[in-house]
Amino acid sequence: MSSPFAHVVESSQNSSGAEHGMTVARVSDDEGCLLAITADSSPCERLYSRSDRRDESVLFSLNIAPAASYGKPIHRNCNTMHQAQVQEWGQAPKYIEANDTAPGPDEIRITVLATGVHQVVRSRAAGKHYSSGTPPRVPGVDGVGKTDDGQLVYWFSMERGTMADHVNIPKRNVRSLPKGTEPAQAAGIVNPALSSWMAFKTRTENLPADFTVLIVGATSTSGRVAISLSRALGAKKVIGAARNKSVLDTLGLDATVVLADKPEDTEWSSLGDIDVILDYVYGPVTAHLLALLKSQRPTQYVHIGGLSGQELLLPGAILRSKNLTIRGSGPGAWRMQDVAENIDELLEVVKGIPEQPIKLVKLKDIEAVWDEPVTAGRLVIEP
Ligand SMILES: NC(=O)c1ccc[n+]([C@@H]2O[C@H](COP(=O)([O-])OP(=O)(O)OC[C@H]3O[C@@H](n4cnc5c(N)ncnc54)[C@H](OP(=O)(O)O)[C@@H]3O)[C@@H](O)[C@H]2O)c1
Repeated sequence: MSSPFAHVVESSQNSSGAEHGMTVARVSDDEGCLLAITADSSPCERLYSRSDRRDESVLFSLNIAPAASYGKPIHRNCNTMHQAQVQEWGQAPKYIEANDTAPGPDEIRITVLATGVHQVVRSRAAGKHYSSGTPPRVPGVDGVGKTDDGQLVYWFSMERGTMADHVNIPKRNVRSLPKGTEPAQAAGIVNPALSSWMAFKTRTENLPADFTVLIVGATSTSGRVAISLSRALGAKKVIGAARNKSVLDTLGLDATVVLADKPEDTEWSSLGDIDVILDYVYGPVTAHLLALLKSQRPTQYVHIGGLSGQELLLPGAILRSKNLTIRGSGPGAWRMQDVAENIDELLEVVKGIPEQPIKLVKLKDIEAVWDEPVTAGRLVIEP
């Protein structure tokens, strides 16, 4: 420690109180470097004895003796690392140096192996998402990495940026990855996979065995993964609709519909009975599809993405003349708690999904590649 001055930036204690209970404190020195102290009663008494406050979260400065005098292991953590940072909305993230801080009491420190540039990541980084916050921001909502004890994990967090050498993530948002999972693949596809997984798990009900699913936008990353997940969940017939026939033909679908340039020219007449529609495209494409739908069975429609539009003109006659249930799927339609409850099963299934196209890029090159058109699959960043 370079100076005897330190600042308690966060502390918590168990119910037995400061004098006798285990207290975990995060303390920074006067250079702003974090000293992570996991203390039992002896240093805690000293910390608290200098404070007038004994509440759960204290913020005060105090003059304490050098760390060594506690006789407790204190780790000075002021190493630096690299991270990506969006400094102004609309600009590509920059590769910068940052403090590598110690994890808080309820956090796990993870060495990042791979993190995906998903649609939600781009939308947040452009300042266009309801959760964008204010710049500067570290982009990313999930990733794959290694804990200090060598476990391969997946984590998700709308609060913490992920494009960095290390991240400290709340324990509740960290999951072990099944053995044999390829880190970059998982970083690229778990988030897109969640789109259809959560739709199936929380936004459909009582689907018949051997159901038929129509995936609109089947060539998107989410749509491709939805093909495998639908089969894993019991679909007998998987129909894919997308603009690109040559790609559609490579996806192992049972039937395909090519989306025409003009939505009203798309040929939906061969569809037949459909139990569930997963829609990533929306807009006029969907309006035309619902108007022409001739399913003899109840159809559960789930809006997931808006690749071609954010609005739908839906004549009332469609709702009166068809056995149609309309829902959407996304944060708000389900709770983050629902993700936490469903993700372990998803991770098992993801391990078995055929390899998906991803483009792996080093963190240091993020600014250069950010605005390049992504034609080679999901962009995945590795430190
Ligand atoms: N609600 C949720 O939980 C959730 C979660 C994840 C994603 N999403 C949403 O789902 C959508 C897909 O996300 P993603 O990450 O899978 O996308 P993506 O991989 O970036 O999809 C890109 C592909 O979409 C197709 N596409 C683009 N514009 C289109 C259009 N106008 N009409 C038809 N197809 C078009 C293109 O395929 P072709 O060139 O082959 O046509 C393109 O290659 C996005 O709107 C995203 O925001 C929602």
